Amino acid sequence: MRLKDKTALITGAAGDIGRATAVRFAEEGAVVIISDINEDGAAKTLQEVESKNGTGKIIITDVTSEDQIVGMFQQIKADFGRLDILVNIAGGDYEPMVGFDDISAEGMERNFSINLKSCIFCCREASKIMMEQDSGKIVNMCSLLQRGGPTPMQHTYAAAKGGIYSFTRGLAMNLGMYNVNVNAVAPSLIEAEALKQGMGEMWEPVSQDAAGRYPLGRIGKPIDVANCILFLSSDEASFITGQIIEVSGGARL
Ligand SMILES: NC(=O)c1ccc[n+]([C@@H]2O[C@H](COP(=O)([O-])OP(=O)(O)OC[C@H]3O[C@@H](n4cnc5c(N)ncnc54)[C@H](O)[C@@H]3O)[C@@H](O)[C@H]2O)c1
Repeated sequence: MRLKDKTALITGAAGDIGRATAVRFAEEGAVVIISDINEDGAAKTLQEVESKNGTGKIIITDVTSEDQIVGMFQQIKADFGRLDILVNIAGGDYEPMVGFDDISAEGMERNFSINLKSCIFCCREASKIMMEQDSGKIVNMCSLLQRGGPTPMQHTYAAAKGGIYSFTRGLAMNLGMYNVNVNAVAPSLIEAEALKQGMGEMWEPVSQDAAGRYPLGRIGKPIDVANCILFLSSDEASFITGQIIEVSGGARL
């Protein structure tokens, strides 16, 4: 088992990628702390973790609230006394299909808050525990869109993910001396239910077009991302830090 007895916090664990990650972690022996704003989704993840004979605990947290994030880490410290792995998955595009000339302060704040600020605050709180332990693994969630485009209508989402890219690298430089690895994954298009529903009838043509462009000839599945996160969270990746790994079927090679 690659994560035997490790305590792992996963934010966004009620979503498709978060749930796949929680289940893989449970299969590899981790105690999984399931964090999300969505109570029903979190309960479903816990059920799947337990169906694999895993151990999980739900902590409902709105990651746009700094106070709630601080409270979540206090609870983890009190309940478990340690934190071996933090995976920041909560996020998404909350200002989609908005052209450059229509960007709003509210939409931008939402995207920065849910994606970038949440990641920074969770990393800040986790690093306090991990520096004390002199060990830890952090995996953040970027996106292939972190480079900007090609989607012309996801400007503030792309900017938030670009922020996570640079924050991840900077944090890796600071936490290396404490034996804490900080990396990120940057997926291309992944077949996730929330995205499918959000895109409606555009899903079929967009996903088919993407599959045709990716060298591996298909779009990704949540498990593809989960497996990469698992590797980066394991001891097998102990000499890897500051890297943003594209999980993309070779898109944009
Ligand atoms: N699906 C893709 O194609 C794709 C590609 C690249 C990156 N990503 C990133 O992967 C992550 C997961 O995406 P997914 O496709 O599984 O989407 P998802 O919508 O299924 O999962 C996102 C989760 O974040 C949670 N969340 C949203 N706001 C929150 C808040 N304020 N507090 C706490 N939790 C909150 C949601 O409840 C949800 O469970 C996101 O960060 C997304 O940007 C997804």
